[in-house]
Order: sequence, then C-alpha cells, then structure tokens
Amino acid sequence: MPAAPRTGVTVFLTGLSGAGKSTIADALVADLEAEGRPVTLLDGDVVRTHLSRELSFSRADRDLNIRRIGFVAGEVVKHGGTVVVAAIAPYEAAREEARALVERHGRFLLVHLSTPLEVCEGRDVKGLYARARAGEIPGFTGIDDPYEPPARAELVIDTSVTPLAESVARIRAVADEQPASVG
Ligand code: ADX
Repeated sequence: MPAAPRTGVTVFLTGLSGAGKSTIADALVADLEAEGRPVTLLDGDVVRTHLSRELSFSRADRDLNIRRIGFVAGEVVKHGGTVVVAAIAPYEAAREEARALVERHGRFLLVHLSTPLEVCEGRDVKGLYARARAGEIPGFTGIDDPYEPPARAELVIDTSVTPLAESVARIRAVADEQPASVG
C-alpha cells in the first residue's frame, strides 16, 4: 500500500509591517527546503505585485487580497503541499475566511507576530512609518488604520524578544505535527 500522503499545511504569519513576517517566512522556507520539502511562499509584497496589483489598502481590497491568498493556499494544501503566508491581514473576519478556505483541505496555523508597534516603527525597514507619520501614506496599518489582534492564533510570537531561530523552531514544532488520522 502506498504511504499515506502528508496532510497539507498553511502557516499564516500575520502582524504589523515590520513585525518580522518576511524575515521569519524566508527562514522557515529555507529550513523546510533544506530538508527537500517544497514550499509555496505567498509574501504580501510579492502577492501584491503578481496577484493583487490592482488592489488598494481599503478594507474591502485588503479583505479581497487575503481571500485570494486563502484560496491559493487551499489549492496547494489540497494536494498535500506546504504554504507559508506573510501578510498584514489586519482583519479577523478575512483571516478566518482564509482559514476556512484552507481547512477544507488540510491544516491552517495562524501565527500572530505580536511585535509592538513602537518596535516595528523603530525598525522602519522600508521607511514607511516615517512617511505615514508625515501624512504621506493615509490608512497605514497601526498608524491611522486598524490591526485587529487574532482571537485564535495557534502561536503568538513577539520578535522583539524571541530570536529568529527560536521563532522558526516553535513554528516547525507545530507545523510538523501530523494529525492522528487523515480524511
Ligand atoms: S494586507 O493588509 O493586504 O494584508 P499586505 O501584507 O498585502 O497588506 O501588504 C502590506 C505591505 O504593503 C506593507 O509591508 C507595506 O510595505 C505596504 N503598504 C503600502 N501601503 C500600506 C498601508 N496603507 N498599510 C499597510 N501597508 C502598506
């Protein structure tokens, strides 16, 4: 009998700009690929270039962006794949829609990067917080646009106190669990 296929999994990293989503996503992908496990990375900035270029940062467009990500992630998980998502995804309802789209086919792990705004703003890797404070980017998450903290994250990690390697290890520990019975 062929071995039971691995249950697909999506690791969905949500948090403010500068919270560490892309850094952790890249490290997680490298870690998995080093073991020969292919991974689909859906990073907000890249998704907005290729899949959601026409979308703004209104609530409706952010929600549509997250719904698209959830749909693609579900399609990959359906055939046993591994997906890593890195997106602000500020609204609970859209995150839960993405969860539902994935959980039809496999596992969904919501990882909330709870790095405080002051730290994200202090990092200001892309210089966007400074521009938002100057009024150049209206509706910037955390400044004059909301971020709803997840009510049911599988993991909560504050990257201002947790080293990168530990964050990756904590996520791997949960992501690598296989359900006792499949289907
Ligand atoms: S989401 O809200 O739709 O989930 P997404 O993760 O795709 O956002 O994109 C966020 C990235 O877009 C940020 O890292 C930042 O570089 C850029 N950006 C541009 N405008 C905004 C804004 N108004 N709010 C947040 N991020 C913005």
